[in-house]
Amino acid sequence: MLKNDLFLRAARGEATERTPVWLMRQAGRILPEYRALRARLSGFKELVETPELAAEVTIQPIDALDVDAAIIFSDILVVPDAMGLPYEMVEARGPLFPTTIKSAADIDKLRIPDPEEGLGYVLEALRITKKALNGRVPLIGFAGAPFTILAYMIEGHGSKTFSKARGFLYREPALAHRLLAKITATTIAYLQAQVAAGAQVVQVFDSWAGILPPAHYTEFSARYIAEICEALAPLVPVTVFAKGAWWAVPEFAAMPCRTIGLDWNQTPGQVRTEAGDKTLQGNLDPCALYGTPEQVRAATEAMLRQFAGGPHIANLGHGVYPDTNPDNVRVFVETVKAWRN
Ligand code: CP3
Repeated sequence: MLKNDLFLRAARGEATERTPVWLMRQAGRILPEYRALRARLSGFKELVETPELAAEVTIQPIDALDVDAAIIFSDILVVPDAMGLPYEMVEARGPLFPTTIKSAADIDKLRIPDPEEGLGYVLEALRITKKALNGRVPLIGFAGAPFTILAYMIEGHGSKTFSKARGFLYREPALAHRLLAKITATTIAYLQAQVAAGAQVVQVFDSWAGILPPAHYTEFSARYIAEICEALAPLVPVTVFAKGAWWAVPEFAAMPCRTIGLDWNQTPGQVRTEAGDKTLQGNLDPCALYGTPEQVRAATEAMLRQFAGGPHIANLGHGVYPDTNPDNVRVFVETVKAWRN
């Protein structure tokens, strides 16, 4: 039994007494207690792959920020890792894949892992977290969208342009589809296993959606997200967050996802008209949290006003930036909680 089910009800499209609130990337980064734990370890992967520690870090923002949902501490890159393409997390630089996908042979070598075998550490972290939360707030599972995962597998690291990955779509469309189909099969089984392990909502992060032209987005990303939504929607509410793909809202509206995540470039009122009865999630600019507490409050209220007229889950328009003052995050959370439409 959940003591606070506001987020879950809003994610189902039901009316709530107040707007629920959480933050993308709330676990880690901004919290001193995260940094302290992280400093004692060999690296990011040790934290992700040790279920007791991942569970501890998942719960830290519930205690420190009093948000209405927990998101399991992990990374979208555990999927390529389990498929046979390991990543490294380079301090102060970000993810790096020592080997990348270049050919049909590379794709054929990848596995579609049994989630309990390849990703058992995430599932165990979910089970431990669910028990430790003891119904305080709902638990969110997640995965990267197949296109965003393909982008890392081909590029090998973060990039402003992802030009290798985007070039691959033009040069080798059939191979791109072969790879996307394998990532999608892995992701569906993984998210289903996350639900079995206790996730009550799942979110698909298409972080690099905005680099694609709309026609490529439809062909190489949206259709695989739709497959994931179709497989998961009978089990739990699904949220799709596609950073920068404002033109794709009508495509998401036609999918059986329940919630559409907005980045800060989107206009909530316009998205409402395109999104039917979906719940909308977002979309305060993470940089609004660099203001004074009064400025944070005003920016948050201005954001909340724009979402009037339908179900809303308050969040940022992308993950919280690492140099954000946690006190300002608390002002954001408290402002949402005090707000009444
Ligand atoms: O939301 C949460 O708090 C849960 C944890 C979470 C992490 N990564 C932990 C993490 C989630 C949901 C992610 C998703 C993720 N990972 C995405 C999609 C969301 C988005 O922001 O667009 C992407 C693109 C990644 C890939 C990734 N992981 C990058 C580019 C980096 C390095 C830069 C950065 O964001 O810090 C990571 C590392 C990472 N993942 C950290 C954390 C807490 C920081 C590493 C550290 O503590 O050393």
